[in-house]
Amino acid sequence: MSTAPSVPSAPWIRIDQAPGHVGETIEVRGWLVHRRSSGKVQFLVVRDGTGVLQCVAGRNDISEADWEAADRLTQESALVVRGTLRQDARSPGGVELGLQSVNVISTAESYPITPKEHGTDFLMDHRHLWLRAPRQQALMRLRAEVIAAFRDFMDGEGFVLVDAPIFTPNACEGTTNLFETEYFDQRAYLTQSGQLYMEAAAMALSRVYCFGPAFRAEKSKTRRHLIEFWMMEPEWAWATLDDVMALMERLLVATVARVLDRRSEELKVVERDTSKLANVQAPFPRIHYNDAVRMLHEKGMTFEWGSDFGAPDETEISGRFDRPVFVTNYPAAVKAFYMEPDPADPRLSLSCDCLAPEGYGEIIGGGQRMSSLDMLTRRIDEHGLPQQAFEWYKDLRRYGSVPHSGFGIGVERTLSWIAGIDHVRESIPFPRMLYRLSP
Ligand code: 4AD
Ligand code: MG
Repeated sequence: MSTAPSVPSAPWIRIDQAPGHVGETIEVRGWLVHRRSSGKVQFLVVRDGTGVLQCVAGRNDISEADWEAADRLTQESALVVRGTLRQDARSPGGVELGLQSVNVISTAESYPITPKEHGTDFLMDHRHLWLRAPRQQALMRLRAEVIAAFRDFMDGEGFVLVDAPIFTPNACEGTTNLFETEYFDQRAYLTQSGQLYMEAAAMALSRVYCFGPAFRAEKSKTRRHLIEFWMMEPEWAWATLDDVMALMERLLVATVARVLDRRSEELKVVERDTSKLANVQAPFPRIHYNDAVRMLHEKGMTFEWGSDFGAPDETEISGRFDRPVFVTNYPAAVKAFYMEPDPADPRLSLSCDCLAPEGYGEIIGGGQRMSSLDMLTRRIDEHGLPQQAFEWYKDLRRYGSVPHSGFGIGVERTLSWIAGIDHVRESIPFPRMLYRLSP
């Protein structure tokens, strides 16, 4: 299908670099977004993943063969174009390409995603193609920026990246949502969290974090839930709940500032109201669980002291603030087995959740870890977990136990908030949800 290039070779450039090459003859490799022709002039709009470039050819600018090939180009056909870049205020990016050749690499079949409206199910079934849409591209770039911001921030704070295993012999966040799998002749689970391993690593390296996928077999269909999601989990030896909350605060401020600074174009594409993000400055409010419950009661909401907050409760609490808010000292009973009891009220724990503003709910969960071996042993029993599987974890309390704290921040929930999208499914390239395992 490809036609021989009719002009000499030219340097291959990215469309996002095109404004720096005005006046030069260059090559762009990409896909056809759309095409229009007046019979005398053809306009090809080409995307290459870095941007969109309008390419223009008059009848005599390109060979007869190229003209005809261009005339038959379908949406998403792959092509290599060569020509000279010139300034054009009306074009996207302010430049356009005066074509000298059009080399069709692959003619696309009739493309399923057209400019008309498609339902979400249809788009999710075609996620592998939907990713090419400008909005989805912008979200993937925002995602990459959030991840880079997380990691650069932690590296800058002296935390060492330590990878946690995916196959695990035991639960971390409770047994109700474990994915069981075979591990030769043993039973294994897909990790819910790398935390327990980070606690071990923190006793070796003092400040560590892991970054990886986590799996929760939760039969939940809410717009915040994924079955497979990505989480960064810092763990910090000697740190208290307060230390780690201050770290979370700095992390979120730095992440939002970096996205605003480097990804303003993408935020525009997803139509994010960035004035809301500009409020994300320290200090974030800190609300004790008891006070949060009082807020709900004052609002006339039914809420039983001792239970966990649901999405409407979180929305009510966080809706009062223009920035993320910490809710602290949750009842031990609604948290995982490893939380340090609150010395002021042993029914509570030294835990916190960070709730994003604008109704996005919990984006971080964390706290101070249990230091007492006896209490830990009791909690493992109370949670119906097998002691034997946790002997290695209990060793961390046997050999030089120190106070330590950490947290987990979900990439997709954080991105959904920063990008202002109403469902986590668009925050990850290939979402795994209750009723979706493909593509
Ligand atoms: O609150 P979670 O379950 O905490 C832990 O896993 C701790 N072990 C973390 C730690 O202290 N090292 O999860 C932490 C964060 C949540 O706040 C949320 O952002 C994200 O992980 N998360 C999910 N994101 C999408 N879908 C789900 N099903 C999620 N579950 C948790
Ligand atoms: Mg949580």
